[in-house]
Amino acid sequence: MTPITRRQALKLGALAGGSLLLPVTFQSRSYAGDAGSPKVTPFTLPFRVPPVLKPVRSDSTTDYYEITMRKASVEILPKLKTEVWAYNGITPGPTIKQNKDRRSVVRFINNSVGVPTSVHLHGMASLPQYDGYAEDLTKPGQYKDYIYPNNRAASLWYHDHAIHATARNVYMGLAGLYLVQDQEELNLPLPKGDYDVPLLIQDKQFSTSGKLIFDDQGEDGQFGDVILVNGVPWPKMQVANRKYRFRILNGSLSRSYGLALSTGEPLIVIGTDAGLMSAPVPTKEMRIGMAERYEVIIDFSKYKVGTKIVLKNNHPKNNDEYDGTENIMQFEVVRTESDPSSIPSTLRFVQPIAESSAVRTREFRYERSNGLWVINGKIWDNQRFDANPKLGDVEIWKIYNNAGGWFHPIHMHLLDMQLLDRNGAPPFAYERGWKDVFYVGENETLRVIGKFGPNSGTYMSHCHNSVHEDHDMMNQFKVGEATVNLTSLAPAKSLPAPAL
Ligand code: C2O
Ligand code: CU
Repeated sequence: MTPITRRQALKLGALAGGSLLLPVTFQSRSYAGDAGSPKVTPFTLPFRVPPVLKPVRSDSTTDYYEITMRKASVEILPKLKTEVWAYNGITPGPTIKQNKDRRSVVRFINNSVGVPTSVHLHGMASLPQYDGYAEDLTKPGQYKDYIYPNNRAASLWYHDHAIHATARNVYMGLAGLYLVQDQEELNLPLPKGDYDVPLLIQDKQFSTSGKLIFDDQGEDGQFGDVILVNGVPWPKMQVANRKYRFRILNGSLSRSYGLALSTGEPLIVIGTDAGLMSAPVPTKEMRIGMAERYEVIIDFSKYKVGTKIVLKNNHPKNNDEYDGTENIMQFEVVRTESDPSSIPSTLRFVQPIAESSAVRTREFRYERSNGLWVINGKIWDNQRFDANPKLGDVEIWKIYNNAGGWFHPIHMHLLDMQLLDRNGAPPFAYERGWKDVFYVGENETLRVIGKFGPNSGTYMSHCHNSVHEDHDMMNQFKVGEATVNLTSLAPAKSLPAPAL
């Protein structure tokens, strides 16, 4: 462990302003003490990609899938068993790959996971009743068929969203990838197939016997000392000396990452949360907050066979650091191969939304107050709507984090937005795409713009530090009128389920 964690610094009042704003007393670590999680030698375990789920059946418009949430005992740390709560018993869950404009029906069965669940497909413009509303719960012994329109090509993910229990449920394993592609994108000469690889990054902490320790340290955050990619601690991936496309998702609860290559070569960013950008953006380092997705090309052709390249985490501010959390995974160039792929200078045009098209500006202050995480001073209330744009309204949302000591990645359901500015300065070049999560660092104010649609109804917005979200940094907005109680629109049903 590093000598001083952010929490200890806060306790000592060493962080300017931090102690004054913190009325709660943070507990110290309750797990394996200073020994930390059982040791794993980084870059020894083989990299893997979650399996792609086959539909149960398909018809001319729709693919039907089935996923069961259950407890399972899996090997994450060598020779130790870890209980997880997982989609189809694996974590990350199976990947769904879908084509734009085909419909998916995904039956999520709450079998043996033992807690109520709600599945959110993060980044999809689903109808409210299929959006994983936090109080739209599927209890043990129930199932729910979720309908997804797949109206944009992007790297999405599905994860649990149960009210006040999201952090624990996602931490225990309830997260998986959902990738939507379209012909326009497939026509580009970007790396495809085996060279188009998802990297779902998470951090966890384990007891000496391999049990997952969930310790949100007084509802502040859950920081692990083991970094997993696609469920494997610090994996090693063998690559050819060519270009790869990586779809990077930060699936951690509270940790953000500063991505960089150990060689100092750039990552070439081609996509943001909601798909391809207008043009590639090379960057030597980039930060990625929880639930953000960035797609990058890494070009291994400049390296000789035998070269090892580490994907580093250069620790953005306000994360607890431990020995090992500076590393994410390793690539080893093991063979030469010809490379038919290239990075076109034009990817997919992202039309900037004109500020002048906004009909109003709203302000949201994400704060710590009286031991709670709040938005404009308020906690979650399913009866209150903090915004009510009309369908098709363009609005600017001004998001404040007027504090040192923490950052908040802010997520809006339903729509993709664009970042106008951060503290009045232009966004980082790699953020200039369609996004549904915005990294609001300490003492930062962001202005984001978006058009409310394509659906009407009730949607949530929240900090994607799920520990903050659960306690209680979440609110809801209503697009147009939503008269019916959304939890009555498509309630979960009791098992056994009829054939899909
Ligand atoms: Cu990824 Cu409301 O969540
Ligand atoms: Cu937060």
